[in-house]
Amino acid sequence: MYTELDEVRASWRYQPDEDCLAGRTIAITGAGAGIGAAAAKTFAVYGANIVLIGRSRQPLEDVFDWIAANTPTEPVIVPADLEHLTEDAAANLRDSIQDTYGGLHGLVHNASRLGAKTPLAQYPVEEWQRVLQTNVTAPFILTKALLPLLTASESCVINTSSTVGREGRAYWGAYSVSKFALEGFSQILADETEHTGLLRVYSVNPGGTRTAMRAEAYPAEDPLSVPTPETHMDLYLYLMEGESQGKTLPVTGAQLDARTWELNRG
Ligand SMILES: NC(=O)c1ccc[n+]([C@@H]2O[C@H](COP(=O)([O-])OP(=O)(O)OC[C@H]3O[C@@H](n4cnc5c(N)ncnc54)[C@H](OP(=O)(O)O)[C@@H]3O)[C@@H](O)[C@H]2O)c1
Repeated sequence: MYTELDEVRASWRYQPDEDCLAGRTIAITGAGAGIGAAAAKTFAVYGANIVLIGRSRQPLEDVFDWIAANTPTEPVIVPADLEHLTEDAAANLRDSIQDTYGGLHGLVHNASRLGAKTPLAQYPVEEWQRVLQTNVTAPFILTKALLPLLTASESCVINTSSTVGREGRAYWGAYSVSKFALEGFSQILADETEHTGLLRVYSVNPGGTRTAMRAEAYPAEDPLSVPTPETHMDLYLYLMEGESQGKTLPVTGAQLDARTWELNRG
């Protein structure tokens, strides 16, 4: 069974029912590593079929194998370099999700490119464009294609933000700008879909979390000084599950912080 998850589950602020995501289908980008892999495994443990989207094939296969071995759900791998995602590829993905699962109930924009940690004066233009393409344009293209499925029934979109997406900080360049943009995207999408009463859109800042990206950004930091991705999965489950007894959900468009959110704050 999933030991990393079992290690932290007792400390979660929210304790969902074991089958709270049964029958749902959830697409996750960057599902092969870090927070994306933890979300994929967690959502599968709680009953969801996962569309594992990512760039490197082997990590996706490892997550697929783990889900197949430990849950009765039916994941699928979608290899995609988001830096080069086209409208046609996103439309094909929408059609195959519809054919395979009959719908889509969740989308987690999680994949991200860190880019250069350098002053704007020296920031390489090509790298700037690659970061914005991966972190902002790809989520837009993917959401645009998948929106008909997401607004056909109750669903949830989680946009993965960052502390530097809410307050600019020197040397974070395109990554910081891309997260500000994703925050704006999140609010616009929430405002445009609120009338449906079906789609909830959130931006979640995981805060410092023990992953490869964190180690790249803070090479001198002791990884054990920051929480594991699994620690945050109570919030991810809380949002993805949607309405259930005794819960107050944050309003669509809300900005949340995984490390400090409080249960039932609305
Ligand atoms: N860890 C933190 O402290 C922290 C703090 C704030 C926000 N976040 C955010 O949390 C999210 C997850 O990051 P993480 O820390 O879990 O990082 P991670 O372990 O490095 O995972 C990042 C994932 O994104 C994928 N990815 C990168 N570029 C891609 C592309 N062009 N196409 C498809 N997939 C791509 C990677 O796949 P490959 O391995 O194939 O490249 C990897 O699976 C990111 O949005 C990040 O900005 C993290």
